[in-house]
Amino acid sequence: MAAKVLIALLSASLTASQVTFQNSTGTRLRVDNGTYGPPIEETNIHLDYDQWPIGIAVASDGRIFTTYTRGSYKYTLGLVVNETAEEPYPSADLNLPPDQLNTTWNGIPFGSSNASAFISVQAIYITPATSSRPETLWAIDTGRPTVHNAQGDPSMPYAQPGGPKLVAISLSNNSIYQTYTFPADVHYPDSYLNDLRFDFNPNLSDTSGAGIAYLVDSSNEGRPGFIMVDLGAGTTWRRLTQDASVLRGATDIPSYQGQPFYLRQSGMPITTGQQEGLDGLQLSLDGSRLYYSPLSQRTLYSIPTANLRTPPSDPRAEVHAHANVSSHGGRGGDANGFEGDSNGFVYQLMPEHNAIYYFDPADGLTHGFVRDPRIIWPDGASVAADGYVYVNVNQLPYQPDWNDGVDGRTYPGAVLRCKLPGNGTKVASLYEY
Ligand SMILES: *[C@@H]1O[C@H](CO)[C@@H](O)[C@H](O)[C@H]1NC(C)=O
Ligand SMILES: *[C@@H]1O[C@H](CO)[C@@H](O)[C@H](O)[C@H]1NC(C)=O
Ligand SMILES: *[C@@H]1O[C@H](CO)[C@@H](O)[C@H](O)[C@H]1NC(C)=O
Ligand SMILES: *[C@@H]1O[C@H](CO)[C@@H](O)[C@H](O)[C@H]1NC(C)=O
Ligand SMILES: *[C@@H]1O[C@H](CO)[C@@H](O)[C@H](O)[C@H]1NC(C)=O
Ligand SMILES: *[C@@H]1O[C@H](CO)[C@@H](O)[C@H](O)[C@H]1NC(C)=O
Ligand SMILES: *[C@@H]1O[C@H](CO)[C@@H](O)[C@H](O)[C@H]1NC(C)=O
Ligand SMILES: *[C@@H]1O[C@H](CO)[C@@H](O)[C@H](O)[C@H]1NC(C)=O
Ligand SMILES: *[C@@H]1O[C@H](CO)[C@@H](O)[C@H](O)[C@H]1NC(C)=O
Repeated sequence: MAAKVLIALLSASLTASQVTFQNSTGTRLRVDNGTYGPPIEETNIHLDYDQWPIGIAVASDGRIFTTYTRGSYKYTLGLVVNETAEEPYPSADLNLPPDQLNTTWNGIPFGSSNASAFISVQAIYITPATSSRPETLWAIDTGRPTVHNAQGDPSMPYAQPGGPKLVAISLSNNSIYQTYTFPADVHYPDSYLNDLRFDFNPNLSDTSGAGIAYLVDSSNEGRPGFIMVDLGAGTTWRRLTQDASVLRGATDIPSYQGQPFYLRQSGMPITTGQQEGLDGLQLSLDGSRLYYSPLSQRTLYSIPTANLRTPPSDPRAEVHAHANVSSHGGRGGDANGFEGDSNGFVYQLMPEHNAIYYFDPADGLTHGFVRDPRIIWPDGASVAADGYVYVNVNQLPYQPDWNDGVDGRTYPGAVLRCKLPGNGTKVASLYEY
């Protein structure tokens, strides 16, 4: 009470030039305008008015593909057809209907085990045409939809073998030409496939010669790690499961739009911030090193890819991999998805800062690239052949499943783009074989 009186007295004595402003108009002070870097373009790209986008990939002919994790959405992989509409890709039939996404076994909920239809596609990545492969849209299906119980509380049922998969779609004939699934000791029931990168070098150690996929298992339940797929032999294996470099930061409370964020699922207690571990990954231009980071740590890590390829039959494989993890130090915030360009820059989406940063292996430092108040939760990014990086923004921290059931998002979600620095363009070196 005494404090209030004091403030009232102070206000009364303010002169006209001492007026307080609710915004920066008219201030004599230096102001953070929330913006730097190349202009962000939002027109003629894409706005989502009916489903919130997660992943994105842009093809050489300019087609934009987006993913929508499910839920109740009708489809999970979409092709943008104009500024405001998408259509299911490659077809509506390949998307399991919402009532077939999950099942129950002995009273325990599970995701579908259907290996020939999409359940919930998280991420996509496009590799260019090679002498042995068409330009390919690669999709990872988590096999884990979000379902809601009678009280409306969300949960993610465990995956069954068959549901989680890596799918290769030819962008020439718009058909699936290969599907890889995982045994239960590689993809755990509580695994969550989150992102993917490829190296087609036929001479990679410990591979059959048809290239490799490096996948991220970001498991919120606590067992994140890398999953590798030998694209020729179809064999799969794990590495760095629960290594300190892939675990979530146990006490990381991020800030979004200047507000501390406590994750609160309906019917659950408040958690210590983001639960997600390993998230972004990007290969060096020669494929010898993989950069990565958990969503909720502020450190960028890398590992020689040879350590990820060593087969599990080598009993030293995990020890050597662990010993060869490098820390590139702090980066100044949490990072979501990664991308890369022909300069070798490792782009990192920075949801706390409405920004994209990049790590430059040449100087070993992280740099600011672009910042804009419209970048409210950058989720996925795709560098295209036109020299732009395309980024999905989806306001994820305001989704009901993180806010005790209250949806604070405002449509539209958007695909934004901006020009890359240093004439950067899509990486070609990993696929020129
Ligand atoms: C900023 O605040 C000033 C003073 O209160 C007000 O006149 C002006 O309309 C505000 N501008 C915006 C963009 O809100
Ligand atoms: C915002 O501030 C930055 C950094 O001072 C400056 O480079 C940029 O031009 C400003 N942008 C606008 C729109 O004023
Ligand atoms: C976009 O495509 C949808 C679906 O085909 C159509 O209904 C809509 O009219 C189109 N919008 C524009 C602006 O062309
Ligand atoms: C799928 O999950 C929902 C919500 O938990 C449940 O009501 C429904 O029975 C489940 N479907 C099957 C086939 O188990
Ligand atoms: C998987 O889903 C597809 C597409 O809906 C359907 O045609 C097929 O019968 C399903 N397979 C199984 C084993 O249920
Ligand atoms: C599409 O292309 C792939 C890869 O070239 C090929 O394996 C597949 O048979 C083709 N599918 C159709 C339906 O033409
Ligand atoms: C792979 O190794 C073979 C045998 O050493 C060599 O002839 C070939 O040039 C190598 N290819 C690449 C793409 O490095
Ligand atoms: C790093 O990995 C290589 C095998 O790829 C291994 O020979 C080496 O011993 C590892 N380094 C350490 C410190 O374990
Ligand atoms: C980018 O390309 C332009 C036009 O070809 C050229 O003038 C410029 O020097 C290039 N910049 C860099 C950083 O390579």
